[in-house]
Parts: sequence; C-alpha cells; structure tokens
Amino acid sequence: MRTQRSELSEADFQAVSKLAYDEAGLVLPASKKAFVYSRLQKRLRHLKLGTFEDYCALLRQNDPDGEAERINLISALTTNVTQFFREAHHFELFGKEVLPGMVEAARKGDPVRIWSAGCSAGQEPFTIAAYCLKHAPQLATADFRVLASDIDPNVLHHGLAGVYPEDSLPDDRSDYFSDLIEATENPKDFRFKENVKKLIAFRKLNLLRDWPFSGRFDAIFCRNVAIYFDLPTQQGLFEKFGKQLKPKGWLFVGHSERVNLDTNKAFRSAGLTSYQRTE
Ligand SMILES: C[S@@+](CC[C@H](N)C(=O)[O-])C[C@H]1O[C@@H](n2cnc3c(N)ncnc32)[C@H](O)[C@@H]1O
Repeated sequence: MRTQRSELSEADFQAVSKLAYDEAGLVLPASKKAFVYSRLQKRLRHLKLGTFEDYCALLRQNDPDGEAERINLISALTTNVTQFFREAHHFELFGKEVLPGMVEAARKGDPVRIWSAGCSAGQEPFTIAAYCLKHAPQLATADFRVLASDIDPNVLHHGLAGVYPEDSLPDDRSDYFSDLIEATENPKDFRFKENVKKLIAFRKLNLLRDWPFSGRFDAIFCRNVAIYFDLPTQQGLFEKFGKQLKPKGWLFVGHSERVNLDTNKAFRSAGLTSYQRTE
C-alpha cells in the first residue's frame, strides 16, 4: 500500500519561505518549492507529522518545541556542501599577500585572527589553519586563532570532532595534511591532530544577527554563503565585514558572489572574488 504524501499548499510554502528569510536571510522563490518539499518531507517523517499544515503549526508555536523546530527548519533548508581547498586560487593570494602580514603581526606579539563565516562541516577552517601551519609554522606558538561559525548546529559537531573521510581529500593534495592528521578507529577516516584543532573555535552564529565579539580580523572567508541571500542582504553583510576587519584586512567570497565596489568604498578588488580594505 502506498502512503499518502502531504501537499505543500501555497500558503504553507509562503509561511516557510518567510520564516527562512526572517530567521536566516535565505531566499526561497517559487522555483524552490520542490526543494523545500523534499527537505521538509524528511522533517515530517522524523516528527511523525501527517501534514505540512501540522508542521507549520509546530513552527508557529511560541514554546521550546517550536523554537527547536525553527532551528531544524533552517538546518534542513541550508546547503552545507563544502570541501577542503575549495576555490584554491584564494590560497595562492592568501599565501603571497596575507600571510606575510600575519607573520609580521605575530612576530610583534599582536593577535592574528581569521574568520571562516559560514564554515559548514569545517573543511574550510581546517584548510585555513593547516595552510597557515605549513607555510608559517611559527604561528603555532603565536596568538593565532581561526573563528569558524555557522548558523546550523548540525554541521558544527563535525568540525569540533575534526574527523573526515580519507576520500574527502582532493586528489591533487592527498598528502597535504599528512603531518597534521592521525588515524582513527575507522581506517576510512582521519582526524586532525590536537595542534590544529586547538587553533579553531567553532561557534553557532547567525550572520544576520548581532556578532558577539569586538576584536577585528586579519582576513574573513565568507564563501558560498551570501549566495543564498538577496542582494541588499549580501551587500549589507559585506559592509559589516568591512567594519570587522583590521585596516587593510582581507575578504574572500564565493565564486558567484561579488562586493559591489560602486557602493562599498571600504574595499578594493584584489583578484578574483578577493577584496582588501582600502584603509
Ligand atoms: C554552501 S556552505 C559553504 C561552506 C564553505 N564556506 C565553503 O565555501 O565551502 C553554506 C553555509 O552557510 C551557512 N549559512 C547559511 N545562512 C547562514 C546565516 N544566516 N548565518 C550563518 N551561516 C549561514 C549554512 O548553514 C552552510 O553551512
């Protein structure tokens, strides 16, 4: 016997879209209805709810159950695709232009900070930390930290564990991390060693809410995150990043994202999807 599948009415789709936009800035046009349907079907099954109407009623509840499900909704609707050394051209510029300044700052005893904003399961901040340790080993004993943040608590525990499948390493860099990783109980996985893990602080953070820190960053990587926001939200976020960077600090965005330099005078273009504060 086939099970009855619940319909996602236009009103329920609109309610979910509005919530995703208000809570996380995610834009879900009508063309995304099938995507929303399939992602939320899993939530309905998990919660043993019969209809999207019931699900939307749960989302509206002003109690801990409703609040927990609003977090799960955002988690279900975000795209967490990521990989080690994604958009590797950023690391060429980073190595040539950014790292020397960081090393000099560390030599003087200044704090050196990088932010992976929208870090998903941690491959981006681990790539950053590993790259820094390999090319500037002196940072290991400096006041050097990587903040790795994401709105989705369900991805952050991967980063905290620092355990990844062997086959997630890019073919052309399969040995890159070899001195920074160790074996796990599962021969198909590896784990980053403590000296790398301790450099990265994983935190749950919604980029569209207040940021609970005052220190400024040498570089911010926010790649393939703003693409899910509308243009005013994207440009507002990039303006906020400008204020959160140290003078002459660096911003790296994803391949489909651009800082509008006509309106944002804080940055200059420094290469493909790479920006530097002008002052
Ligand atoms: C496609 S992944 C990008 C991961 C990594 N930066 C990369 O380029 O490989 C997008 C991440 O952005 C996060 N995200 C989406 N909206 C967010 C928001 N409002 N605040 C913080 N993170 C958000 C998602 O949870 C997801 O993990």
